[in-house]
Amino acid sequence: MLEVSHVSKSFFGFAALSGVSLRVAPGSFHALVGPNGAGKTTLFNVIVGRYRPDAGEVVLAGRRITGLPTARVVRLGLGISFQRAQAFLSMSVLENVVLAVLAQQGRTHDGVRELAGYEDARAAARELLGWVGLAAAADAPTASLPLGDLKRVDIAMALAGRPQMLLLDEPLAGLSRAERREMVRFIEELLRGLGLTLLFTEHDTEAVLRLADRVTVLHQGQVLSEGTPDAIKRDARVVEAFLGE
Ligand SMILES: Nc1ncnc2c1ncn2[C@@H]1O[C@H](COP(=O)(O)OP(=O)(O)OP(=O)(O)O)[C@@H](O)[C@H]1O
Ligand SMILES: [Mg+2]
Repeated sequence: MLEVSHVSKSFFGFAALSGVSLRVAPGSFHALVGPNGAGKTTLFNVIVGRYRPDAGEVVLAGRRITGLPTARVVRLGLGISFQRAQAFLSMSVLENVVLAVLAQQGRTHDGVRELAGYEDARAAARELLGWVGLAAAADAPTASLPLGDLKRVDIAMALAGRPQMLLLDEPLAGLSRAERREMVRFIEELLRGLGLTLLFTEHDTEAVLRLADRVTVLHQGQVLSEGTPDAIKRDARVVEAFLGE
C-alpha cells in the first residue's frame, strides 16, 4: 500500500532522516517507533507532502506521490490525523466534519452559517460521526469534548475522503491510561472493520505491541530494525538503543 524508498531529509545540515525505507502491506497495521527526535513525524511530513525529501521516493498504491501537495496526497487515498487535532474548537462537532467532507470534495463555502445548507455533506458527516461513535455529540460545541472524543473527531475528519490508508501520529498522546486502552480498542475495531491500512507512531509500547502487525524502529533518522512486534521485542540492537537513551 505504501512504499518509502531511501528517503533522506536534512534541516540546516542536520540529517533528520538518512536513507529510510519501509513497506506497509495492504490491510496491515504498521507502527513506526523510536525515541524523541528519531524522525518519525518528519517521515510522516515527507509522506504527506509537507516536506520535500532531499532524496528518495514515496509510492502510494503503486503511484509515486513524492513531493505532491498534501491536498493531492489526501485525495489519492491517504487520511491523516496528526498529534495536534485539526478540529476548530469554536465550531460544532458536525460542522467540523462537514468542513472536512467539503474540503475533500474540493468544494468551497462562504462561512460557517452556510454549512447548514450542504445537505449531502451533512449526511456524510453524520455517517462518519456514527463510525467513530459520536453521533450523539454532533451538535455539541467541539470545545466541550474530552480529549479522547476530540481525537475521534479528528479521525472522523481524516476518514472524510474514504481513504484506503490512515496515518496517525501519536493517537494516544495526552490520554489517561483508561482512555488509552479505550482508544486502542476503538482504533482496532474501527480500522479493522473498514479494512484500512494503518501507519502510526506511538510511544506507548503496550499499545504498539497490541495493535501492530509490523514494527519499524527509527533511531537517529535511520531504520534500526523492522519486524513483527515479538521479533522487535527480542532484538538486542533495539533493546540496547532504547536502554541507552
Ligand atoms: N522543520 C524543521 N526544522 C528543523 N529541524 C526539524 C524540523 N522538523 C524536524 N526537525 C528535527 O528533526 C529531528 C526529528 O524530529 P521529529 O519531529 O521527526 O522526531 P519524532 O521522532 O517525531 O520525535 P517525537 O517522538 O518527539 O515526536 C529533530 O531533531 C527535530 O528537531
Ligand atoms: Mg513526532
